[in-house]
Amino acid sequence: MSAATPSPEPTARRVSARVGAISESATLAVDAKAKALKAAGRPVIGFGAGEPDFPTPDYIVDAAVEACRNPKYHRYTPAGGLPELKAAIAAKTLRDSGYEVDASQVLVTNGGKQALYEAFAALLDPGDEVIVPAPYWTTYPESIRLAGGVPVEVVADESTGYRVSIEQLEAARTERTKVVLFVSPSNPTGAVYSPADTEAIGRWALEHGLWVLTDEIYEHLVYGDATFTSIPAVLPELREKCIVVNGVAKTYAMTGWRVGWVIGPKDVVKAATNLQSHATSNVANVSQAAALAAVSGDLEAVAAMREAFDRRRKTIVRMLNEIDGVICPEPEGAFYAYPSVKGVLGKEIRGKRSQSSLELAALILEEAEVAVVPGEAFGTPGYLRLSYALGDEDLVEGVSRIQKLLAEAKD
Ligand SMILES: Cc1ncc(COP(=O)(O)O)c(C=O)c1O
Repeated sequence: MSAATPSPEPTARRVSARVGAISESATLAVDAKAKALKAAGRPVIGFGAGEPDFPTPDYIVDAAVEACRNPKYHRYTPAGGLPELKAAIAAKTLRDSGYEVDASQVLVTNGGKQALYEAFAALLDPGDEVIVPAPYWTTYPESIRLAGGVPVEVVADESTGYRVSIEQLEAARTERTKVVLFVSPSNPTGAVYSPADTEAIGRWALEHGLWVLTDEIYEHLVYGDATFTSIPAVLPELREKCIVVNGVAKTYAMTGWRVGWVIGPKDVVKAATNLQSHATSNVANVSQAAALAAVSGDLEAVAAMREAFDRRRKTIVRMLNEIDGVICPEPEGAFYAYPSVKGVLGKEIRGKRSQSSLELAALILEEAEVAVVPGEAFGTPGYLRLSYALGDEDLVEGVSRIQKLLAEAKD
């Protein structure tokens, strides 16, 4: 080493505190581990990934193929999204949610995740608090913290179907509260709020001058008597302080295409667009062309997927509830079951006593070769999340393996 070579930084300073505090996405980690074990020849069945097991519909893929051959799409396009896609998202919002937005209120992003990061970055100053109902999707607190905000959890359990009450929200509100997060249908619980409860939460936010950030990515996946309610649609007065995050991933089986969007008041959307113009510029044009075909088309493909998910939902809930010590409320939306496994913790299974859902998930992967995500990833230890977006046969085989393993539990 020459004298001019700078000495290495102490380890603690190599990564900033802000980014160093971000943990790996637990859901992606479980999925990666399951795929690695599978690649190594183990017959692992994965309930980890939050993605439909169907291919993207042909007409969407065809639009992308055509876009590939069009030199117009080989160039940079406006950072905030193709104008025709923004207009189509505005039209789709009117069709599906029943309220009017202008294309200038839309920002096209690299998936719902980037939409969230940019929305929180555009809204939050250091110390601003965001009320986050838990169990929450693992990305929310990280995106809030990176923006300098403080996530404030409000926990609901299986006794209320994982739905928080206004009293709980009110107890969490402080002088620093700026935003309340509202997600229905929910990942990880599949909970859906009724139209009346949705409106009541919106009114409470309005009364206290709070922003509402609502994630509507599972809008088309509701079952039985449940209905999706878009909060800015039922409360027009809230629209000046409401940000909608959405995307094509779940509705059109397009997780890999990476197209989402933010809808909100023009000033916030402009600020988020400015951020994106420096961070990533436009979303890949081929993906935007595919998304344009998706949102401009009908909802036939999602209707077919919904039917399959509904069938699997009933099977998985029934089979999970057959296990001693496991309680699984019926999810009304999305494609996740979120059973409590508290009744199994501490019991002896194959010589091990799992004291946490994290340990139990590891045991299930090791002994039953089934991948599930522990509740720790969603702010509520004592639960497991199982995505039922996998084939019917694998689903039954996977849950049967869990049933057999947990049947061995002894005090
Ligand atoms: C609730 C919720 N919001 C947003 C997303 C982000 O979706 P994507 O970034 O794939 O568009 C997901 C994906 O799992 C999700 O479950």
